[in-house]
Amino acid sequence: MKVLITGAQGQVGRCLLASAPAGVTVAGLGRAQLDVGDGDAVQRAIETHQPSVIINAAAYTAVDRAETEVDAARRVNGLGPRHLAWAAAACGARLVHISTDFVFDGRASVPYPPEAPTAPLGVYGRSKLEGEQAVLELLPAASVVVRTAWVYAAHGANFMRTMLRVMAEKGQVRVVADQIGTPTAADSLAAVLWVLASRPEVTGRQHFTDAGVASWYDFAVAIAEEAAALGLLPADVQVQAIGTADYPTPARRPGYSVLDKRALVAALALQHRHWRVSLRRVLGTLIAAPKA
Ligand SMILES: NC(=O)c1ccc[n+]([C@@H]2O[C@H](COP(=O)([O-])OP(=O)(O)OC[C@H]3O[C@@H](n4cnc5c(N)ncnc54)[C@H](OP(=O)(O)O)[C@@H]3O)[C@@H](O)[C@H]2O)c1
Repeated sequence: MKVLITGAQGQVGRCLLASAPAGVTVAGLGRAQLDVGDGDAVQRAIETHQPSVIINAAAYTAVDRAETEVDAARRVNGLGPRHLAWAAAACGARLVHISTDFVFDGRASVPYPPEAPTAPLGVYGRSKLEGEQAVLELLPAASVVVRTAWVYAAHGANFMRTMLRVMAEKGQVRVVADQIGTPTAADSLAAVLWVLASRPEVTGRQHFTDAGVASWYDFAVAIAEEAAALGLLPADVQVQAIGTADYPTPARRPGYSVLDKRALVAALALQHRHWRVSLRRVLGTLIAAPKA
């Protein structure tokens, strides 16, 4: 199997590179090597590398900035997947594409199944929906779209790292308690993406996050507790629950975006870990080797 990974310097991209299965030839291209918004460049990269599988981990992920950078978000999240789907169709490759819980409006009170109606609240969610629709239209039999949520890793820009920094600097933090979802370790997702790379019969929309449910407040409390247990933070960090209304952001976010992933977990016979188990694992890697 020859696999081309786009967005290879991102949270998920880096985890994919670090966990490539033995025997797989991997070309990991960061934004500097391949701009997925450039159709000609995508074509050239596919011709050069002749992959049998493309994993698209490239995305414009600045949710708030997207509200004012609409074209930039659409170029990467909408056009990028379209270019990759065209190129994959031309060379007979399978495309594994990542999407988001932000395609939903968050009004549900039970987990969203993959076929639930979409209604994004902002530019980022709309641009991601555009991308997933392009992939499924252009390459229905040779693609899979994996929606995920609340991704974090030991590297990159994410909630866990922000919390660790603020907690260490200030000893206290206020965190939104009325948005509910599932924290998902980028390496948990990467493992599933690798399984999907070699399972061409799994197509269409799929959902994957770690198991369980949390508010951002719950996630922050767990970060404080687990980090203190590992000696990464003092034990007396204060986490205060606030409401979304107390923390206004340019982009609206879904209030409830838990994804129903039972179908994918069953289809792939996954060992599905609770988000807190994953959090402990990721924090543990910070002790072994602090990452930039
Ligand atoms: N992070 C989350 O909480 C979350 C939640 C749900 C779904 N997702 C989805 O998960 C996937 C992976 O996200 P992530 O968390 O790994 O995000 P990330 O850390 O922001 O990584 C995205 C990577 O894509 C690169 N990129 C941006 N524009 C590009 C372009 N035009 N061409 C090629 N690469 C480009 C970025 O480079 P620069 O850093 O140089 O811009 C970055 O390295 C994305 O599809 C995202 O939408 C993420």
